[in-house]
Amino acid sequence: MSAEATAPGKIILFGEHSVVYKGPAILLAVDRRATVIASKRDDKRIYIDSEDLGFSGYFEDGKYTSVTGKIWRGRNMAALDVAARKVMAYLGIESGVNLKVRSMIPIAVGLGSSAAVCVATTAAVGELFDGNLTNEKISELSYEGEKVIHGNPSGADNNIATYGGIMRYERGVGLKRLKLDVSLPFIIGNTRKKRSTRNMVEGVKALRDRNPEVVDPIIYTMASLSQAGLDALLRRETKKLGDLMNLNQGLLSALGVSTIELDELVYAARREGALGAKLTGAGGGGCMIALAESENLNKVEKSIRAARGHSMRVNITDEGVKTRKIKDEYS
Ligand code: PMV
Repeated sequence: MSAEATAPGKIILFGEHSVVYKGPAILLAVDRRATVIASKRDDKRIYIDSEDLGFSGYFEDGKYTSVTGKIWRGRNMAALDVAARKVMAYLGIESGVNLKVRSMIPIAVGLGSSAAVCVATTAAVGELFDGNLTNEKISELSYEGEKVIHGNPSGADNNIATYGGIMRYERGVGLKRLKLDVSLPFIIGNTRKKRSTRNMVEGVKALRDRNPEVVDPIIYTMASLSQAGLDALLRRETKKLGDLMNLNQGLLSALGVSTIELDELVYAARREGALGAKLTGAGGGGCMIALAESENLNKVEKSIRAARGHSMRVNITDEGVKTRKIKDEYS
């Protein structure tokens, strides 16, 4: 018997960087998912196999052994090991597990791939041992895995991967889940340039430390823009939503987190009629998102590809983590 769990990736619609200081970030779960299939082992190993993420190996007594002899993707692998062990410790079980990981979410470009994989691992291992984990527990335990990768993350990514839908996150205020009753497509343009969120956040901090009198008002504007953007989204005022995305891009650029590659994709999208286009996530590479009327979606996507971006069309999804048991052929 094995158990499967899937969890969605995410985009940040508004509030990246400003959320570190003030105001909300608005996160949307998107219909690109990570899947983990967990099965029991007779030994104590946590055996992780993922072609999509490019690694295969196992942990035993905290020590990693590569099976493919390929790259050691240290923190990614360790995060899954931690997530699986935390679930078993919570359930009072001592066992090894096989984790087969597949993901349709590109890694290290701000689309919440690590959170989706941690959440799916937690849920799959929980299901395998009939743990009846609540969503709250899944999110809490997977956060332990996320910490291995990101140090001290906000907790927003593991929540959106667990619950799906729309999430408003504000420091000191917490998370609020919202639902959108109709679907809204976005186009993601991926520069395919990996970047570190930590470095980007540090860069903004250094700029602010040197120029607080200029940077603070930018951050305050971003904070109010983020709230206005959420209101526009919930009211489906797409023209206004597009305006606010464009304004936000200008301010993110002012903070120095956009790049020439991101700008090229943003302008490529706008040139073909996108209502709004901005980078999403930490910047410095990674992805941008565009909002367009349905008749312009194809043109916008084509334009992003012509500007050397990888394009994906996604929809907001209310579907958070999902689990099921799989009956093996011979069991
Ligand atoms: O690119 P991501 O998904 O890691 O998003 C980073 C969002 C920041 O606001 C830049 C950092 C943070 O911790 O909120």
